[in-house]
Amino acid sequence: MSVEVKTICCIGAGYVGGPTMAVIADKCKYLKVIVVDLNKDKIDSWNDEDLTKLPVYEPGLKDLIKRCRGKNLFFSTNIQQSIAQSDMVFISVNTPTKKRGLGAGEASDLKYIESSARSIAEFAVGHTIVVEKSTIPVKTAEVIKTILFSSQKGLENKPSKSFTVLSSPEFLAEGTAIDDLINPSRVLIGGESKDSINALVNIYKNWVSEEKIIKTNIWSSELSKLTANAFLAQRISSINSISALCEKTGADISEVAKAVGMDYRIGRHFLKSGPGFGGSCFKKDILNLVYICKLYGLNEVANYWQEVLKINHWQQNRLTNIIVKKLFGTVTNKKIGILGFAFKADTNDTRESPAINICSNLLLEGAKLSIYDPKVKFQEISDSLNDLNNAQDHTIKIKDSIFTASSFEQLANGSDAILILTEWVEFKNIDWVKISKLMRKPSWIFDCRDIIDVNHFGESDLNIWKLGFGSNMDNQK
Ligand code: NAD
Ligand code: UGA
Repeated sequence: MSVEVKTICCIGAGYVGGPTMAVIADKCKYLKVIVVDLNKDKIDSWNDEDLTKLPVYEPGLKDLIKRCRGKNLFFSTNIQQSIAQSDMVFISVNTPTKKRGLGAGEASDLKYIESSARSIAEFAVGHTIVVEKSTIPVKTAEVIKTILFSSQKGLENKPSKSFTVLSSPEFLAEGTAIDDLINPSRVLIGGESKDSINALVNIYKNWVSEEKIIKTNIWSSELSKLTANAFLAQRISSINSISALCEKTGADISEVAKAVGMDYRIGRHFLKSGPGFGGSCFKKDILNLVYICKLYGLNEVANYWQEVLKINHWQQNRLTNIIVKKLFGTVTNKKIGILGFAFKADTNDTRESPAINICSNLLLEGAKLSIYDPKVKFQEISDSLNDLNNAQDHTIKIKDSIFTASSFEQLANGSDAILILTEWVEFKNIDWVKISKLMRKPSWIFDCRDIIDVNHFGESDLNIWKLGFGSNMDNQK
């Protein structure tokens, strides 16, 4: 039996739900696409006439919204009505690490998944295909099914609703989300019902070739997503561990990464050394993998993946220590400029950004921070640092110790050091000779993203330290 899908709804208007549904709406003009969220402010921002106010910054997103919003793409807080009129409902809510209770600090908190499933169970009409888009622990579909199917009990005499559940995890990366969605490496669909799988395949087939659409059993699909993120994060920790060895031995990490990555069996992607991986997913997904492994008694496997996180944290602390040591062992009351606060370029997202740990370490050492990021607002920076400060029971007065700079000159003025933490393209064109004249001497640049070219420094008297470069010009000027 083929299932005709005319209206789809996505629960969760965040970094995944918003862009994913915008691309589906653009590629499938025959579909009505509704994105719902509990957060009214977020929905208002998605509906704002001023497209610079969209809650998510992604290259290409504004154009899509302009083309589709109000035509076949809608953002709403009316969850009941949106679910009721939909043939297919995507769950794209957040699945953060649990903060308290059983599995705290490791397991995923499934409360938003559960509440979404309960909303679908309550409001769905007729047959509804439910698609897990969120990243969830393997076996979560079981929970969703139990909630959905128990809502059918007692309705035997009037079968007004029925459900099938699919897993179709999302592989987009922030900053390239629109490109990733338009040209995905693969689309993964796990499930039992052939008709429901085909209904989702038919949507993707509008722009993705069928060879790229993988059909698996539901548990393989759920576990593949966690595994893919764990493997990507593992590569970053691997290269970051070698960056430290480069600094000791005179090797340069960019040369090593190139030489290693040219072996087609290894590949060149995800070998860029930096201040450690951030973002809302790698850490939480590995913690989740660790938790599941322990649950099944696979302690060696759990320990193996735990090390990927340990190296990530170590890299951030290692960087702070290097900076403090270079600045004569103390940064108390010194002004340090921070270039970039987002967890990577081309996003306004700061979740788990390495900048949070590194800035927090420097604040603990008594530094004053002048911060510039082209897309992150002061409030966001201050909130992220405050959250960590409170979580670690520190009493630094964040608002008195950080300020945002509106220009590179303002950031540099009187600074002892400038630290590059995000690889924004605009940082590549900074006039370092001009900047050096504004800084206090001796002045340091710490490039943690390998974006500055030391050949552009002319006669400036800047000391430059590049992460992973053993050939660093280490003689202090
Ligand atoms: P997000 O926090 O940006 O958005 C989630 C949204 O869901 C929030 O706006 C929240 O208000 C809403 N929500 C929560 N419970 C709800 C409910 N019951 N009803 C309606 N709305 C509800 O999260 P995100 O970054 O979009 O991630 C969503 C999921 O996708 C996560 O599981 C994540 O691991 C996964 N994922 C994220 C990315 C990424 O790049 N951010 C990529 C792939 C997969
Ligand atoms: C990552 C995955 O790449 C996506 O496939 C996945 O869908 C997503 O997580 C998710 O599940 O949320 P994302 O976190 O948005 O995407 O961005 P990445 O490009 O993976 O970068 C993650 C972090 O690793 C960033 O802090 C980035 O700077 C860092 N990174 C990345 C490196 O340090 N080196 C690299 O070579 C690549």
